[in-house]
Amino acid sequence: MSLTKGLFVTFEGGEGAGKSTQMRLLADSLRARGHDVLTTREPGGSTGAEAVRHVLLSGAAEAYGVRMEAILFAAARSDHVEQVIRPALERGTIVLCDRFMDSSRVYQGITGNLEQGFMETLERVAVNGVIPDRTIIFDLPAVIGLERARRRAADERPDRFEKEQLETHEKRREAFLDIAEADPERCSVVDATRPVDEIAAEVLSLVEALLPREDESHPSTAEVAS
Ligand SMILES: Nc1ncnc2c1ncn2[C@@H]1O[C@H](COP(=O)(O)OP(=O)(O)OP(=O)(O)O)[C@@H](O)[C@H]1O
Ligand SMILES: [Mg+2]
Repeated sequence: MSLTKGLFVTFEGGEGAGKSTQMRLLADSLRARGHDVLTTREPGGSTGAEAVRHVLLSGAAEAYGVRMEAILFAAARSDHVEQVIRPALERGTIVLCDRFMDSSRVYQGITGNLEQGFMETLERVAVNGVIPDRTIIFDLPAVIGLERARRRAADERPDRFEKEQLETHEKRREAFLDIAEADPERCSVVDATRPVDEIAAEVLSLVEALLPREDESHPSTAEVAS
């Protein structure tokens, strides 16, 4: 559980699973209901982290090995948490983040073959107590996700992570499902093969369940005065 008063929701899963699409739709729905919402993404989301994002996604850091990449992801996450996410949560904002710590566990930890103890230490330092209240894992066969991602970016070259083997992407899918199984309090798995609107309705209901009811969200005059 996070110690902050906002709500922190992360969107996780493989390439093309619909994370960005669903985050945008959820933000629109929550704003239409009057909530204060901040959308952000990883790697990046703060000035320092966006500088590191380019190094990571261009593949410039690949030559230095997966440990170096994992440390750079953690450095970016730390900046993002301290500069953007924690302050927003402290203001009572709903923070929606496109990828967060589970992507590091999966991409660098599982398919990068880094030792668990090393990854746990990096995660602890990077998140520094800011754990998502809810993580939505978008699940679909890797072949469908990659096809969607490629169609979307037909004119762009695949990034450092998209170009890896299908087998690697399937292993990541399993790793995300393992995370969800190990931490059912935090994680919800959503079947991402369905139509966009159907998924959006499920995502909204998952998040609305965590929000105070309308009649509780406005403190009474007596509470404000005290
Ligand atoms: N439920 C869906 N059914 C069919 N197509 C979808 C669905 N959700 C998203 N798409 C399409 O698939 C593509 C990838 O979606 P999106 O960018 O949201 O995925 P992502 O998980 O953010 O991918 P990445 O990890 O590459 O950032 C987009 O073109 C989007 O319009
Ligand atoms: Mg995306």
